[in-house]
This record gives sequence, structure tokens and C-alpha cells, in this order.
Amino acid sequence: MPALSVPRGAQGLLFYNSGEPSFVESDADHPLALRSQFVSVDAYHGLQWRAADFVKPSVAPGCMVKLLRSDPLTHAHSLLYCMTPNYWQDNISYHDCCEESYHIWGTSTMMQFGALPTGGYFWRPEWINHGAFASELGVLGFGRTHSQLHNYFHFNPWSSPAENRERAAAQLRRHKPNLSRWVRSPDGHNHPHDFEYPAFEYEDEDGG
Ligand SMILES: [Fe+2]
Repeated sequence: MPALSVPRGAQGLLFYNSGEPSFVESDADHPLALRSQFVSVDAYHGLQWRAADFVKPSVAPGCMVKLLRSDPLTHAHSLLYCMTPNYWQDNISYHDCCEESYHIWGTSTMMQFGALPTGGYFWRPEWINHGAFASELGVLGFGRTHSQLHNYFHFNPWSSPAENRERAAAQLRRHKPNLSRWVRSPDGHNHPHDFEYPAFEYEDEDGG
């Protein structure tokens, strides 16, 4: 990263995946830096709000996004999102990825967790029920996921994280029966290999 400066001061919002980096002054990249993946965007002037329909099934109309970055290999997202005034969604969602969010402005209210105001933050692990939710005056927020965001919607507020995970796996069996069967087979389950990205470091591998 080069030196940063702004004319009137600013607040920085920094997110890290696995821990704080060690900042070392240098005129060269770290050997593992993903220079080709660096994105610099003026999200206020340079991007327009769009429907959040790249996530299927999608959230209720009125939640718009500016997708800042989508990792091409994992589909992990970094995005700005807004909710229009009087936004509401009456179902319950969970994901197979974790997600985190920071409210730049506005308050939304979640059935399970209460109100998240301006400056509020959450990190939510996978499989956790969240929703219904609503916002009286609207929200501007920043969010991230660690892999592809899929909305598993339902209307059972009492389902447990384990039941939600079972349900997601059952959906995978229905939607992709051949792949699911192969991954569970003795030959298939052991570290599937992508010839296109042989060096990708998988989270679920312990070096073995
Ligand atoms: Fe979510």
C-alpha cells in the first residue's frame, strides 16, 4: 500500500481475515501479496446501487448493494449495502459462510439480536438463524463474507445450528446429487483437486 492522504481527515475501517498484519515500511510487495487482486474504488461516485440479486435466493426488495470486491476463487464478498426506509423482511435466514457487518449509519432490528445502531458491528458464524428484520429509517452498512453467500430461508425460529447445517447439506444432495455422491465416496472425499488452481490454499486442509 502506498501512503494515503485525504484533505479533511477521515476514519478508516480496516478488516483482516486471520489477524492483524505486521506493518513494515517497504518499497516492495510482501512475497505473498496478491497485487493482481488489489482493488481501489471510489464507492461513492464510482459505483451505483444495484439489486442484491447476485445472491440467490435474494433478500427482499429495498436492500441494495455496491459490490466492492468479489474474490474470484472463493466468491467471498466485500460490499456496501443500504436498506430503504421502512425496509422489512419477514423470513429467517442462515448461511454456510460467516458474515460480518458494520453500520456506517442507521439502525436495523433483528428478531433474535435486537437493534444494531450506527457504529454497530457484528460477526456471525455460519448456520445461525437471523431474521425477520426491519429498519424504520434505513441503513447504510459495510459487509463481508468469507465465501459465497447463499441465503437459506425458512420460517422456523427454533431450528438449531446443527439442524440448519443438516438442512443445507440435504439441499446440496438434492441440487447436486452426482457431485454430492462423489464427494462422499471413498475415492472422492479426500481433497478434490482443481487442475486450474493447483496452488490454492484450502481452509479445510491441515497440510496433510
Ligand atoms: Fe445474513
